[in-house]
Amino acid sequence: MDIRAYLDEQRRLVEDRLAALMLEPTGAFAQHVEAMRYSLFAGGKRIRPVLCLAGAEAVGSGEEARRLALPVACALECIHTYSLIHDDLPAMDNDDLRRGKPTNHTVFGEAAAILAGDGLLTFAFDLLSSTASAAIPDPIRIRIIQTIARAAGPLGMVGGQSLDMIHEGQQIDYEELRRMHRSKTGALITASVVCGAMVAGAGKEQEAALQTYGDHIGLAFQIVDDLLDVEATTAELGKPAGSDAKADKVTYPSLFGRQASRSMALEAVQEAIAALTLFDHRADPLRALARYIVDRKT
Ligand code: IPE
Ligand code: IPE
Ligand code: MG
Ligand code: MG
Ligand code: MG
Repeated sequence: MDIRAYLDEQRRLVEDRLAALMLEPTGAFAQHVEAMRYSLFAGGKRIRPVLCLAGAEAVGSGEEARRLALPVACALECIHTYSLIHDDLPAMDNDDLRRGKPTNHTVFGEAAAILAGDGLLTFAFDLLSSTASAAIPDPIRIRIIQTIARAAGPLGMVGGQSLDMIHEGQQIDYEELRRMHRSKTGALITASVVCGAMVAGAGKEQEAALQTYGDHIGLAFQIVDDLLDVEATTAELGKPAGSDAKADKVTYPSLFGRQASRSMALEAVQEAIAALTLFDHRADPLRALARYIVDRKT
């Protein structure tokens, strides 16, 4: 399948719904909402929301499944964008470019950027629990909220980001590096696919298979992110190349070199695709997305 065309089409759905659901920068909180919108609408690949839609599509029937999953997809992008705003802060990775634009804190100041992140994170759970996603049956909705909270929280993305900070300048082993990548990046990616599938009424076996798929592409995604940090240019990435070495981060290429890291990413993608055997052609977008994750240049 033509993954570029698929990505463009799904991204458009996400962009339109995000624009419709996001708060407007008017009234008493205009300045705060402006800072949230600045990063949310700065571009971005929208890979997590697209994975959510593709997860729904793999289980349900195309358009209807995507329609139900869209607010969940938007909530995931809000959480991801918050994680980027905080990741770039001086106290964390201290980067000044994101999605091709000056980072949130360089434009609005540190306090406003921290709050923009807080606002996006909290707003995501508003989207998941309010009328925006009321078409999803409540028992499924509660499981989705819990799944996303866990993936984003202390034993998921936030926990992983904490390991990332603790391990700056340290020597860690393979196990620990893998744990860090799976939690800081893999957890939200996995939740994206699994929650999409939940919306479409996935059974236990399907959910478990998609969990395995997500674990593998999540790891591959961060390995490739590490590789691009050494191989691509700032202009290509829209964020500062070489940021990891500057901050003395432990990454796949720093521990294994570029070639072995790429092999490990490819292997993870193959295992991800292998986990999809019980799905029919409706999972082709997930298969193509897995390949895209290692082929991407940005
Ligand atoms: C960057 O994520 C941060 C990581 C978890 C590696 P993306 O590469 O998905 O960033 P955007 O959303 O496209 O800007
Ligand atoms: C970030 O990892 C993971 C997040 C949860 C945001 P990185 O710090 O490598 O992400 P980039 O390279 O700044 O996008
Ligand atoms: Mg970081
Ligand atoms: Mg960073
Ligand atoms: Mg990186």
